[in-house]
Amino acid sequence: MSSLTLDVETTSTQRHKRLAQWVAECAQLCTPERVHWCDGSSGEYQAMMRLMILSGTAIPLSEDKRPNSILVRSSPADVARVEDRTFICARTQEEAGPTNNWEDPAKMKDKLKRLYSGAMAGRTMFVIPYSMGPIGSPIAKIGVEITDSPYVVANMHIMARVGSRVLEVLGEDGEFVRGLHSVGDPLGPSDQDSAWPNNAKEKYICHFPETREIWSYGSGYGGNALLGKKCHALRIASVQARDEGWMAEHMLILKMTNPAGRVKYITGAFPSACGKTNLAMLIPTIPGWKVETVGDDIAWMKFGPDGRLYAINPEHGFFGVAPGTSMKSNRNAMLTAARNSIFTNCAITPEGDIWWEGMTAEKPAEMVDWLRRPWTPGSGRKPAHPNARFTTPAGQCPVIAPEWEDPNGVPIDAILFGGRRAGIVPLVTEAFSWQHGTFLGATASSETTAAAAGKVGQLRRDPMAMLPFCGYHMGDYFAHYLKIGARPGAKLPKMYYVNWFRTDDHGKLLWPGYGENSRVLKWVFERCDNNVQAVDTPIGRLPGPADLDTNGLDLPAASLARLLSVDVEGWLAEVPLIREHFAKFGSHLPDGLNREVDELEARLRKAKK
Ligand code: OXD
Ligand code: MN
Repeated sequence: MSSLTLDVETTSTQRHKRLAQWVAECAQLCTPERVHWCDGSSGEYQAMMRLMILSGTAIPLSEDKRPNSILVRSSPADVARVEDRTFICARTQEEAGPTNNWEDPAKMKDKLKRLYSGAMAGRTMFVIPYSMGPIGSPIAKIGVEITDSPYVVANMHIMARVGSRVLEVLGEDGEFVRGLHSVGDPLGPSDQDSAWPNNAKEKYICHFPETREIWSYGSGYGGNALLGKKCHALRIASVQARDEGWMAEHMLILKMTNPAGRVKYITGAFPSACGKTNLAMLIPTIPGWKVETVGDDIAWMKFGPDGRLYAINPEHGFFGVAPGTSMKSNRNAMLTAARNSIFTNCAITPEGDIWWEGMTAEKPAEMVDWLRRPWTPGSGRKPAHPNARFTTPAGQCPVIAPEWEDPNGVPIDAILFGGRRAGIVPLVTEAFSWQHGTFLGATASSETTAAAAGKVGQLRRDPMAMLPFCGYHMGDYFAHYLKIGARPGAKLPKMYYVNWFRTDDHGKLLWPGYGENSRVLKWVFERCDNNVQAVDTPIGRLPGPADLDTNGLDLPAASLARLLSVDVEGWLAEVPLIREHFAKFGSHLPDGLNREVDELEARLRKAKK
């Protein structure tokens, strides 16, 4: 491993006066021991790994089992995104809307300045220039994250394009999103550092959309701390997208090729931990079909000159939920994370490899769990945290699409929305129109998972899977969707709603999911070319049982019928809940969506007669 050179300022940095000045101001406020400008080199990455290993934050994994990889264990107070500590500090509460926490920007900055004051004492302040999207792509955006966490630096190396190359594109006066992050755990002259520095008392993840700033304090974990991801690429970017006429979405991007070699690109919005990474890399069970990955979490979509929406994946790696990932459920993710990866809050085996729930059919006989305690199968505890993660380079994915770094993006044919619903919602529904598709997205709902702190398994409306990630009033966000759809000359993708999680009366999943989801994707693919039938129902267009390719699938006809059935009574009961959900958005809710709910109700009532 090479050693870390500190206090280096590149010439290009000094060229960008506003950047240099902002860094100096942050250093003055946070009083770090030193400042390190990240160059993005592999030597720097190795130095971060070594720093984490020497300070006790990380342990190296076996070079035989998991080359060039580490395990990091956080603390129980810092294991997931903290939505109740996440704020959109727009000028007014109205602009932030009813789904976001809000605080007056000046008041919040005052409060945070007090917390940041001296917050990096005894630590190094790292300056990470990053590009979300291929460097220099017309769809990409630049940000700079200042952080006192080597864990953040190492993760950003994987998740974004970082370092001097970015400063070159930024030039003397380029625009960038400013992100300041501190774990909020200063060190006195004789303090011993903790293995996972963070602030157990105060956490703030704040966004200032008008000034394109992110101020994050107190957490070192995932989306709270890797500011390029949720904070920039979704919350700030959604505002940039609104202002500039494009879309920043919580969507995977996949490429599907049929046996004749025809290609379609599909995006999909699903709430956290609903199988997005699995879908992005699925191995089709239908012969001759191929799925390749462009992105697994975020899509930025812009109109091309031909009126189609072109998407890039702004990220450079996968920050995937580990539990449940196995050679059976997601072989490609397992192979991607075989080396050069960071594992967080997993268990470790005596051989020096990681383990999590569901990784292998048989549990290792002994391990050390994510809380550093000895673990045996009889201990009655889960050895990995349910939101344990792997951070791994996207380029290592065996099915990464060759065009995943195309600066112009890929043209999108279909958009999927979905969630985790045990009842009512069919396997797949095609929207009648872009407006109806927006309605399907806007009413998306899901049972909550461990990706965010809080109760697991509760039903919540999660419009376009953006509830925790929309940087402005959600009613205005719906209106932005409709505006995109009304653009003259637009050649829009078709829209779908899918639900892999419908259960029978005993709570057993009706649909096998995983690779079998390719059957649904095939129907979507062929619908885009009008090559397969759909049946009009009150809630949208559904495949008839014969329209879905179930060859070789051991699925009872009754299960298929149920998966594709419209429960009119159930949907009628859902209508008041949709109205209640929409009422939250007041006058910001576009009329088009009110009309959609009226029309849905009218169609359901007609069907009931
Ligand atoms: C994620 C999330 O980490 O959505 O992708 O929580
Ligand atoms: Mn996500």
